[in-house]
Amino acid sequence: MNVSIIGTGNMAKGIGTRLVSGGHSVTIHAQDEAKGKELAELLKKVNNTAVVSVVPVGTDSDEIVIVATPYAEIVNVGKEYNGLTGKVVVDITNPVDFNTFQLIPEAGQSGAQEVAKILSEANVVKAFNTTLAGTLEAGEVEGKELDVFIASDDDEAKAKVSELVKTSGMRPVDVGTLSEARHLEGFGLIQMKIQDQIGTGWMSALKFLG
Ligand SMILES: NC(=O)c1ccc[n+]([C@@H]2O[C@H](COP(=O)([O-])OP(=O)(O)OC[C@H]3O[C@@H](n4cnc5c(N)ncnc54)[C@H](OP(=O)(O)O)[C@@H]3O)[C@@H](O)[C@H]2O)c1
Repeated sequence: MNVSIIGTGNMAKGIGTRLVSGGHSVTIHAQDEAKGKELAELLKKVNNTAVVSVVPVGTDSDEIVIVATPYAEIVNVGKEYNGLTGKVVVDITNPVDFNTFQLIPEAGQSGAQEVAKILSEANVVKAFNTTLAGTLEAGEVEGKELDVFIASDDDEAKAKVSELVKTSGMRPVDVGTLSEARHLEGFGLIQMKIQDQIGTGWMSALKFLG
């Protein structure tokens, strides 16, 4: 598949690593061209046959687009890409207020549903918010494949993202509609809060065993 990633940070690197490992083509949408080129070089080292390109932010994206920016930037991303109309938008964000270390959406609501309101003509899929960047780069934790929890109101979009996850060496787990994303975001927050306590250096994973 051809996949766009908006951003050049930790998650762009982690998800990009998994995608090129699975033989997918990646287009990096970079605000900073130098960072985009650096990430492209890194991904090509992961798989030297992978097709990786760098384009400026705002360039028309592939059908599947992973928005690897902070949650607060989704409004700007919407403006930069004319709402990403018709695209399968993968919302990986953890909508956390880092002053209070609480979720930003009201109780019972999810950031993903807010993203779907902002990008109202896109097909929004929540995924990857519980998979930490370092574990995506490594591709496994304690020898086990990563679980990627997926929620969406659009079954076709969800199936495409599930296939992408599977062919990139991870296990897609369908948790239901976009309203279920609030549980995934809660999990995401808890995983951040307990990092010091468990001491795995941000290399933990949420996974169902058995
Ligand atoms: N890190 C994790 O382990 C982890 C795990 C699960 C989910 N997440 C979520 O994944 C998202 C990205 O996290 P991260 O750790 O990768 O953050 P990061 O390293 O800070 O990277 C954020 C990227 O977004 C880019 N960006 C910011 N505003 C933009 C805009 N308006 N248009 C285009 N690009 C923009 C930044 O570009 P510049 O560098 O040019 O500013 C940067 O490349 C967050 O929502 C986070 O909650 C992170």
